[in-house]
Amino acid sequence: MEPLTQLVFFVNGQKIEENNADPEETLLQYLRNRLHLTGSKLGCGEGGCGACTVMVSRYDQHRDQIIHLSVNACLAPICSLHGMAVTTVEGIGSTKTRLHPVQEQLANAHGTQCGFCTPGIVMSMYTLLRNNPRPTQKEMESYFDGNLCRCTGYRPILQGFQSFTKDACPMGVNCCMNKNNGSEQATNNTDGMVNGVANGDAETRLLYDPSQEPIFPPELKVNAHLYNTSLKFGNPSSTWFRPTSLDELMDLKKLYPNARLVVGNTELGIEKKFKRGQFPVLICTTHIEALNEVRLDEHGLVIGASVTLSRIQEAMQSAVDSLPEWKTRIFAAFLDMLQWFGSHQIRNVAAIGGNIMTASPISDLIPLLMAAGAELYVMSKEDKPRYVKMDHTFLKGYRKTDLNPEEILISVKVPCSNEQEHFYGYKVANRKDDDISIVSAGLDVQFQKGTDVIENISCAYGGMAPTTVMALKTMTALVGSHWDESMLGKACNELAADLPLSPGAPGGMAEFRKTLTTSFFFKFFITVKTKLIQEGIITEVLSPEKSIVSLGPRACTKGIQVFEEHTKESPVDIVGHPVAHNSAQQQTTGEAVYVDDMKKLQGELNIAFVLSTKARAKILRVDTNDALQMQGVKDYVCYKDVPGKNSFGVWPKEEEEIFASNEVYCHGQIIGCIVADTKENAQKAAKRVNVEYQEMKPIITIEEAISNNSFDGESNTMGRGDTEAGFAKSDHVIEGEVRVGAQEHFYLETITHRVIPNNEDGCVELYSGTQVPRDLQLYVARTLGIKANRVVVKVKRTGGGFGGKEIRPVATALPAAVAAVKLNCPIRTDLDRDEDMIITGTRNPFLGRYKVGFTSEGKILSLDVHFYLNSGRAVELTQSVLMRAVTHCDNSYDIPNLKVTGRLCKTNISTNTAFRGFGGPQSNFIAETWISHVADFLGKPHKEIRELNMYKENGMKFYKQSIEGCNLTRVWQEVQEKSNYESRRKVVDEFNRNSRWVKRGLGLIPILYGIAFGYTTNFFNQGGALVHIYLDGSVLVTHGGIEMGQGLHIKMIQIACQVLKVPRDKVFLNETSTDKVPNASPTAGSSATDLNGGAMKNACEILYKRLEPYMKANPQGTWESWVSAAYMDCVQLSTTGFFNRTLKWDKENGGTFYPYFVCGAAVSEVEIDCLTGEHEVLRTDIVMDVGRSLNPAVDIGQIEGAFTQGYGLFCLEHYKINPEGVLLTQGPSTYKIPSFRNVPVEMNVHLLKGSRNEETVFSSKGIGEPPLFLGSSVFFAIKDAIASARADEGITGYFRIDSPATPDKIRMACQDRFSKQFPAAEKGSFKPWFVDL
Ligand SMILES: Cc1cc2nc3c(=O)[nH]c(=O)nc-3n(C[C@H](O)[C@H](O)[C@H](O)COP(=O)(O)OP(=O)(O)OC[C@H]3O[C@@H](n4cnc5c(N)ncnc54)[C@H](O)[C@@H]3O)c2cc1C
Ligand code: FES
Ligand code: FES
Repeated sequence: MEPLTQLVFFVNGQKIEENNADPEETLLQYLRNRLHLTGSKLGCGEGGCGACTVMVSRYDQHRDQIIHLSVNACLAPICSLHGMAVTTVEGIGSTKTRLHPVQEQLANAHGTQCGFCTPGIVMSMYTLLRNNPRPTQKEMESYFDGNLCRCTGYRPILQGFQSFTKDACPMGVNCCMNKNNGSEQATNNTDGMVNGVANGDAETRLLYDPSQEPIFPPELKVNAHLYNTSLKFGNPSSTWFRPTSLDELMDLKKLYPNARLVVGNTELGIEKKFKRGQFPVLICTTHIEALNEVRLDEHGLVIGASVTLSRIQEAMQSAVDSLPEWKTRIFAAFLDMLQWFGSHQIRNVAAIGGNIMTASPISDLIPLLMAAGAELYVMSKEDKPRYVKMDHTFLKGYRKTDLNPEEILISVKVPCSNEQEHFYGYKVANRKDDDISIVSAGLDVQFQKGTDVIENISCAYGGMAPTTVMALKTMTALVGSHWDESMLGKACNELAADLPLSPGAPGGMAEFRKTLTTSFFFKFFITVKTKLIQEGIITEVLSPEKSIVSLGPRACTKGIQVFEEHTKESPVDIVGHPVAHNSAQQQTTGEAVYVDDMKKLQGELNIAFVLSTKARAKILRVDTNDALQMQGVKDYVCYKDVPGKNSFGVWPKEEEEIFASNEVYCHGQIIGCIVADTKENAQKAAKRVNVEYQEMKPIITIEEAISNNSFDGESNTMGRGDTEAGFAKSDHVIEGEVRVGAQEHFYLETITHRVIPNNEDGCVELYSGTQVPRDLQLYVARTLGIKANRVVVKVKRTGGGFGGKEIRPVATALPAAVAAVKLNCPIRTDLDRDEDMIITGTRNPFLGRYKVGFTSEGKILSLDVHFYLNSGRAVELTQSVLMRAVTHCDNSYDIPNLKVTGRLCKTNISTNTAFRGFGGPQSNFIAETWISHVADFLGKPHKEIRELNMYKENGMKFYKQSIEGCNLTRVWQEVQEKSNYESRRKVVDEFNRNSRWVKRGLGLIPILYGIAFGYTTNFFNQGGALVHIYLDGSVLVTHGGIEMGQGLHIKMIQIACQVLKVPRDKVFLNETSTDKVPNASPTAGSSATDLNGGAMKNACEILYKRLEPYMKANPQGTWESWVSAAYMDCVQLSTTGFFNRTLKWDKENGGTFYPYFVCGAAVSEVEIDCLTGEHEVLRTDIVMDVGRSLNPAVDIGQIEGAFTQGYGLFCLEHYKINPEGVLLTQGPSTYKIPSFRNVPVEMNVHLLKGSRNEETVFSSKGIGEPPLFLGSSVFFAIKDAIASARADEGITGYFRIDSPATPDKIRMACQDRFSKQFPAAEKGSFKPWFVDL
């Protein structure tokens, strides 16, 4: 029978019959581009962020069951959906009809900020509930392993969804869990709670009712032909077959020997997108019975090659539950490993066959399969079926197996264990959730019956070579040994010989990876020994401190949030109350529109960039011939097409070329762009533009810049006193060095613009996600050679910014504007995640060198500190970053003699830029390093030295600004009280005395932060607003700030309501636009509320004053009647508002460098695994001074989100560039931001009570940036834990760890016999895989 060629599936209950199904099209592209269902977002396109999550439901004929799966639409080929029903966020609820309880709960719980991640999170939760209407909290919390959020810090999402769980407490906010160690009541008359739901009201908790859900389309259930019929879809470059029998599959494979089989597409999708994989023929094997069976027999589990990992989990769990423990030890190890394999979304579609056949050297399953001696069953048309043992002969080279190209893997048999056998799997990754292994292992031992004598041992390691390797010599050497220390010693020596790794090996971190091999073996040794003791085979008693070799399971998340609620003077009084984000509901339903969600206009084209592949080179030739011939391509645009100036910078500077003309200065620099009908066609063609270079030697690192004298400008120095005299008076002087790495912004919405040229008068309209529309407007005008009054930039919202959308969006908007004018059509550019990461730069990496003089008590008398900042190829904002770093170099410490010097290093990496906190966090980190160095030198508690040197209330910053009115001492003391710091210090020390391989640590860190633009950029301290009152009484407000998730618009609405005394529903805020409020300052520096809020207040006060006579004349009247009366009297019902502040400061006399200070403090407790370097954050307590909060829910969201980003900066996010300047971490698969399970298990946030700030609108304080540094409390807690591990080895005193404290650094700092076996190779003796910037 001829295969069917029509693709049939359902989307949100609507039947789709597609006659031109394209094998290269993903479900996400189909939903967004063809159906215009833009709720599902493109965050990465590689299955790593979850923004595209949808629910796919299908009927399982064999089980007669409907299966609901959360799936990454960005990886799912549209052709794979035949016979299935897709539910997107639009399909479950809407603001126009009714929100689904999941959507409503998330909005109420303040679980959205920028909202770009929100639809994906909603769909994960929805799918969980469709499968399990009353999950446990633990099940719920683990379900988000495939979703990322860069804004919220996750806590409100988890607490919001708690109400759907079995174990949710009906007491809501009054639950005893909400008591802080029993010491604090959840609520009283003055404290409000933002806890789960808005104000944690138990009555408002929403319940989930599964009977209200739409039914699965009956047609998909009854039409067997949907499942039993072969399919064939195609386009000129690719054909998709879906055979339904093994014979058909064999025939197809014979006919197309190079065809690739596909199940989950989680490997092929990545190969296609990132490795330019071309797949002319794809054969989908999801509907062939033999490849889908799961059968348990006496000897093991037979798993078909197309069986997904989540089905394997089910099958293995059921075997573990039903068979004797000894028989399922291998399955138990698989289950343990599978929970860390990818994410739910990945495991729901990815099959075991794909994992085996890809043969990745960092596969998680291959080491287990090889150690277990799994057996494959393979077939081909020509040859007899055969069994292939997965032993050391199975892998033939990098991604090559023993199978011939025409052979098909049918199934794999995973054996049952025997009574004498013990089997464990190990994996270390940078992040626990959804991360690929650095090293993994499967370790299996079988003993002679009733003894501890090794009969057979199998050790398979991933991540140590181009293939998974079996440590053959080790295995042979250990047979016959007793399971004792001498065997362990032998194993460590043999493993070192079996698993060599050169220092420059791909992946880097060679000594860490080698240490992991023996550390894993040691864990295995202890765990098996404990079992042998339990079985009575060994009589030795293993002391408890030695037997705990791993972190325990993570507990469920909990926490409290305490704030002071404003008393309401009238019902419309909403300032000071936890009002939800104004777009929260639209974000949860997918109705919130981001730039790329806007409908395509007539004639609209896309551009894709031609980027430099060299860090430093002359451009010899650009050949566009091939590219211009490609499908859909309209033009190539480069510097020759720029009508005005081919340059941009920080307005009005001309630092960087828009299009490189003769030379390139970094990898990822824009050379030109291809204009085409679709993004995909433009991207394909851009890759075909051939650029010839003459390479030059690039400068990549700070050290290279220093040695080549590659600096921008002169050094910047500030200080007070006489440092030399201070050193002379000191009892001790120490010196040190530490560095802080780069941090990628990873806003979930990449940089996106749409430019619409307008023939009449040469005007141009831009829709963009920028934080500074002003700069975009000015630069577009200059580039096009027109006046700024012809350019309008509009921003509705942006999906996160964090500083990364201040200047960098200009770099991609200008080429789009040039293309739009050249071709006279609308142009869209939305960067893919890798393009965004390559082009846009990061937080500046810092190298800090310090010299500190201090007394024997620990009082610091003198500090000389040097900062070197890696600016990248242009200065851009790095000068301002340095200014903030310099003025924050003392953090909270009052140092009488201080000199700080900063230099900007010019290198050949992408231009680095603003990132939340500017240079504050890096500079503060260096400060906390030198102060801990002093404490360690003196052998005194860190807290004591911090307190001894801390600013007092009447202190004076070294640049002569008083900190009077700042509550530093209060927050410092309160955080210790709230966290029970002293008693927990004792508990931690006691724990550490009794535990050798798992250690705990505490970090107590303050922050003192100067808010807003400082004296040197005083002109930015202005804000504007425009308010109109219409005749129906409705109010339209606009201001100069950008809503990027931080809740700015809701605060502006609150201010307007409060001043005009109108209810919330009267006030609307649509968008920010340069034709409403001109010359607006950047939305940055934690100042947007102060500046724009001041202006909003001003405008509303003017209007209120104009209406007041009518209110007095008619006190019984309504708002509408007063508005109408004023109108009839020709009173203007519209006005602008303005706010400015002038800072007065000079070097001699000081004054006001920053408008005011914000302070806070945090205590974090961690547990580390000394053998692997992994850690868990057990608890964090934060006390933060936000003045009189305008909106406590929003402010707490900012604190938690900033803390989480800071935690990422200092403990997780490792940005890697190779020595040639090529970025290695180009997406979520390699660059790890904090995920759901990185949240502190317990997270308590307290807003300082009774704090006021007379300088600002309604006495509030700016809060966006200061809490970020508190994330370093986790770093210092980790260091505290490492110190205990080192002390056990007799090593005391200060030790250096650079930020971020990733597992490799933690592990190698925990010096012990395993790490000492692999000393680091000398720097310079090899070419590293990546360099420290
Ligand atoms: C976000 C993300 C996270 C991931 N996390 C992990 C992780 O933690 N650990 C890990 O090990 N891997 C991980 N992977 C890799 C990947 O998910 C796995 O390797 C998965 O098992 C591949 O299965 P698939 O069905 O999607 O393969 P597909 O992409 O459909 O196919 C992969 C390859 O296998 C071949 N193939 C498939 N079936 C057969 C067969 N029966 N006979 C012969 N050849 C066949 C195909 O031709 C193709 O070349 C991750 C991938 C992503 C995108
Ligand atoms: S866009 Fe699909 S997972 Fe990121
Ligand atoms: S709200 Fe989650 S990424 Fe912004």
